[in-house]
Amino acid sequence: MKNITCIDDLRQVARRRVPRAFFDYAESGSYAEETLRANRADLERIKLRQRVLVDVDKRDTSTTILGEKVSLPIALAPVGLCGMQHGDGEILACRAAQAAGIPFTLSTMSICSIEDVAESVRKPFWFQLYVIRDRGFMKALIQRAAAAKCSALVLTVDLQVLGQRHRDIKNGMTVPPELRLKNIIDIATKPAWALSVLRGKKKTFGNLAGHVKGMENVNSLAQWTAQQFDPTLNWKDIEWVKSLWPGKLILKGIMDADDAKTAAKTGADALICSNHGGRQLDGAASSISMLPKIVDAVGSDIEVLFDGGIRSGQDVERALALGARGCMVGRAYIYGLGAYGQEGVAKAIEIIRKELDVTMALTGVRKISEIDGRVLVDASVAPRFKPKRRAAAKKKKR
Ligand SMILES: Cc1cc2nc3c(=O)[nH]c(=O)nc-3n(C[C@H](O)[C@H](O)[C@H](O)COP(=O)(O)O)c2cc1C
Repeated sequence: MKNITCIDDLRQVARRRVPRAFFDYAESGSYAEETLRANRADLERIKLRQRVLVDVDKRDTSTTILGEKVSLPIALAPVGLCGMQHGDGEILACRAAQAAGIPFTLSTMSICSIEDVAESVRKPFWFQLYVIRDRGFMKALIQRAAAAKCSALVLTVDLQVLGQRHRDIKNGMTVPPELRLKNIIDIATKPAWALSVLRGKKKTFGNLAGHVKGMENVNSLAQWTAQQFDPTLNWKDIEWVKSLWPGKLILKGIMDADDAKTAAKTGADALICSNHGGRQLDGAASSISMLPKIVDAVGSDIEVLFDGGIRSGQDVERALALGARGCMVGRAYIYGLGAYGQEGVAKAIEIIRKELDVTMALTGVRKISEIDGRVLVDASVAPRFKPKRRAAAKKKKR
């Protein structure tokens, strides 16, 4: 991996190693992919402020997210079908995250099940839950996450109907891949991938297969999933989930200041400012452009996490400067997983760590808590709310 120096290098290798249908599945956004592109373009527009002659000898990228100590302010985002990027992908990514000291989030739509991952790793991980019509099954999933000692439940609220991804339809993207001639030829040229997936614990949706009555074969499972996302999803459902899950709750997919205020009132521990990596509402604003508004709307009532377009440590510093407590990373680690399995995920995290560390030095900060609007050329885009200073002011008054 000597020549791998940035996330895009991992992406190039993944593109060669992973069958087209699954690589495209990871890459794609919905419809015209306007929001997918906006996520990156708007991050790149935020310019960092170069500072000099500040002693930055001792730097520390560690912080806390939801009270958990983390070695850097990122967590691996829930990503469906990791086990189709590399056999046992969920287990490998979780191991890499835990070795690096950051949280891993297992998707409902994973290949390895909650139990597969729990028995293969040493520490608790986060579990992401979709709201589905079959509430009995959902309740059972929450209980399984609790039995596996998951340390947080990430409830995704932006997928009650599915945004269309053109490339998935054109590629015949199913699990396992639809046996079209094109796909067979493609897989035949990726023997390392085929071997890793064949050796993997599961080849279908591990959290669903065997748990949903009469849904043992893959096609009916796929149909079941499409029918099961619940368009009736509303704020009252959060109360119901809370009644079943006493642990930490994170609401994922908040893109509006009013929704953020309501999210804070639910008593959830955190929200994630996210547009699902540009995979749902196409034409939505980039998530980075909404972040400061959301931070200002909720103040210190709820922790605000961020995702959408993070590909470097520079991006992490940008999001933190705009008020995020931490960032979820999606595609950046998926490229590592597709390229080199567990080592590739570890490499992706390491790349981001080193970039963040150097970026902190060159913007004149030593600690994560020092990152705010002052590291930006245009500080006016940062939220007005300053968590630390407000806390300090409160103390003084007392
Ligand atoms: C291939 C892929 C699959 C995803 N699957 C899920 C999922 O199962 N559940 C979920 O809440 N979010 C899912 N997401 C969204 C991510 O959790 C995250 O919001 C997004 O990837 C962040 O953008 P980024 O990829 O630019 O970092 C998925 C994203 C990708 C790219």
